[in-house]
Amino acid sequence: MAGKTKIPYTPDFGRVPDEMIPRPMLTADIINTFLNDTSGKRVRIVTGTRGSGKTVFAESVCRQIQNEKSWISAFLNPERDMLRDLAAALCGRKNLKEMFTAAKINLSAFGLGPQIKGVQPETDPEAALAKMLGTLKRRRKKVLITVDGASNNSSTKLLISALQGFMQKDLPVYLLLTGLYDHVRSLQGQETLTCLHHIPLIPLTPLNTGRMEESYARVFGLDSGTALEMARQTKGYAVAFQALGYFTWKNRKEPERAVAETRQYLEEYVYERIWSDLSAEDRRVLYGIANTPDGSVASIREYLQESSNRFTPYRTRLIRKGIINGDSYGVVRFELPLFDEFVLKNYPPE
Ligand SMILES: Nc1ncnc2c1ncn2[C@@H]1O[C@H](COP(=O)(O)OP(=O)(O)OP(=O)(O)O)[C@@H](O)[C@H]1O
Ligand SMILES: [Mg+2]
Repeated sequence: MAGKTKIPYTPDFGRVPDEMIPRPMLTADIINTFLNDTSGKRVRIVTGTRGSGKTVFAESVCRQIQNEKSWISAFLNPERDMLRDLAAALCGRKNLKEMFTAAKINLSAFGLGPQIKGVQPETDPEAALAKMLGTLKRRRKKVLITVDGASNNSSTKLLISALQGFMQKDLPVYLLLTGLYDHVRSLQGQETLTCLHHIPLIPLTPLNTGRMEESYARVFGLDSGTALEMARQTKGYAVAFQALGYFTWKNRKEPERAVAETRQYLEEYVYERIWSDLSAEDRRVLYGIANTPDGSVASIREYLQESSNRFTPYRTRLIRKGIINGDSYGVVRFELPLFDEFVLKNYPPE
């Protein structure tokens, strides 16, 4: 690390970090289904809790697809007018603007192309996009559209409904959606958005422990035992991996202080938001789990005085949200590091 000034870890959201732990299997799986297109399914949906790495993952898929011959990828922000942004993204690609002009698609009303003599300007972005995609199809090009942080808002619904129409016309569009579990479920619940129905949600799994250990050992010159211990502390939670690296860099001689600052960062910037998204019942169940150190479902239910029938749906939902893990039979554990302590501190005891 001698001589380096830039801190290689960053706990900021939405930024591709220098020390990035790849997710090769998941990435290859998603990219291959798009590239091979044999399943007929052109939509993939990735979910994960806040800070699990959805934006970074989506960006890396987008970048890799962009490197494929004949693929174009557009990364869209659901807070904006995505139909317009998609048209702009296509026009921004090398040679495509000229291709659309040559195909006599007049995009001047959107400020995306020149006036074309004798051709009416397009005024409806959806109709314009259909023509643009038709042109791309004739050139055997395909377009991956990524909507990162999708929710049930009007911009997302408009875009997906348009894409669905394009897919029905066999225009070459593919969609990668990422979002929080509740948000994408609510989108999937929209009756008219049939292209989202029955698409299995792909959860972002924790980062690989060995790769995290390797990163800490290399960056801080640590022996593998110490680096492994640090990696385990993060539980593979992407933002915790960055935060622990960042605060360890800042407090190199004081590992305890690094852990305390990491905890503070997670609590203030991440867990408070996760907590505020949860229902009162989810919080009560989490309090029961935090109060049952062995994680046994039977003990948790006893503590909460809940029947199995009532407890199971809570358990399932909290697993899908990426907050608890239920991989071992009869046991649940917190997926996020130090979240149990956060729950104990923040749940108001009656
Ligand atoms: N594969 C990865 N390897 C290492 N760090 C990662 C990885 N993916 C994400 N991170 C780090 O984790 C943090 C959160 O990442 P990101 O912004 O992608 O999360 P998110 O799931 O999109 O969160 P939100 O739901 O709030 O949008 C960032 O600091 C980022 O640098
Ligand atoms: Mg994000």
